[in-house]
Amino acid sequence: MGLVAAEAPVSSVCAALVAAYAAVRAQSGSICAPLAVEDYVIQSMADVSPPKWHLAHTTWFFENFLLQPFVPGYEPFHPRYGYLFNSYYETVGRFFPRQQRGALARPTVEEIYRYRDHVDREMRDLLATAPAACWDEVAARVTLALNHEQQHQELLVTDIKHIFAWNPLRPAYRERREAPAAAAGRPQGWREQSAGVYEIGHEGGDFAFDNESPRHRVFLNAFRIADRPVTNGEYLAFMESGGYRNPAHWLSQGWQTVREHGWQAPLYWERTEGAWRTMTLSGMRPVDALEPVCHVSYFEADAYARWAGRRLPTEAEWEIAARNGAVEGNFLDSGRLHPAPADDTGAPTQFFGDVWEWTQSSYSPYPGYQPAAGSLGV
Ligand SMILES: [Fe+2]
Repeated sequence: MGLVAAEAPVSSVCAALVAAYAAVRAQSGSICAPLAVEDYVIQSMADVSPPKWHLAHTTWFFENFLLQPFVPGYEPFHPRYGYLFNSYYETVGRFFPRQQRGALARPTVEEIYRYRDHVDREMRDLLATAPAACWDEVAARVTLALNHEQQHQELLVTDIKHIFAWNPLRPAYRERREAPAAAAGRPQGWREQSAGVYEIGHEGGDFAFDNESPRHRVFLNAFRIADRPVTNGEYLAFMESGGYRNPAHWLSQGWQTVREHGWQAPLYWERTEGAWRTMTLSGMRPVDALEPVCHVSYFEADAYARWAGRRLPTEAEWEIAARNGAVEGNFLDSGRLHPAPADDTGAPTQFFGDVWEWTQSSYSPYPGYQPAAGSLGV
């Protein structure tokens, strides 16, 4: 007679968290899979982190905020990794200088992958054995750490693009996968919004970073907002009308920056043989007039809006305009890694996915904001 060991009951929450952990951690590996070992180490500017640093830092986050507090007797994989891979800015002087991350030959990429494997094993054990008394805190921290790693996945893609664009060979991170623009694009329309008192900020029980709270009321005057992002073609019209040469369009500091850096086009655009080309993750390709314009600074977005006789929305206006749309779009999961033209359905689109969008609001706390209790540095 065979015997089967009784398995500890695993709640659906725990099972979902275990699955999410595996998926998110694997995604980081997938993003880095096309890289050569040399690519992992490059820091092409101070704001860029080498890919291997992202891989180690996200792993340190699990080790520091979960394994060390919740696994009795846990010893860090390496006693100095906390110094190398911490980015908590309130511990100034206790972490390795950001702008020198690219100077770290060691640990090697291979060692960092071993670090990831080690922490993954320990995390699987913790998720399987965490005592009920601390499960809620463990689950909350794992959820935060997974969202943190997903933030770094976005940074990984951003930084890999810069690393490859900085190289005069303009190498491709990978071959282009998506078909050329399937959507035909469409003229920009307007979405009307009436005046009133609205509520913005996170609500509900799903995960949110603390800076998305608290929910609060705002009064908005009536406004209308474009039903899709500005396209490359529209931005090109601004450029061709002398937009980068006319100070009337620019904020004072913006105009100063244009002059100092000689800006003439969005980041990554290059003019060769009379045509604009742009760097993508699959190498240089012609600028597609129908795709949303991206890699423009706040100053450029603001100048374009002024040239077009419009203005950037406020944060509250953008949130209210976006709130009724489904949270779906061209995200990392699509595998496209490049913005796509708006579809031609006529419905407001691309509030989510494709590109980050500028507002005119400062990044300041919502009324009544409090850092989450026991907040962790990310
Ligand atoms: Fe981080």
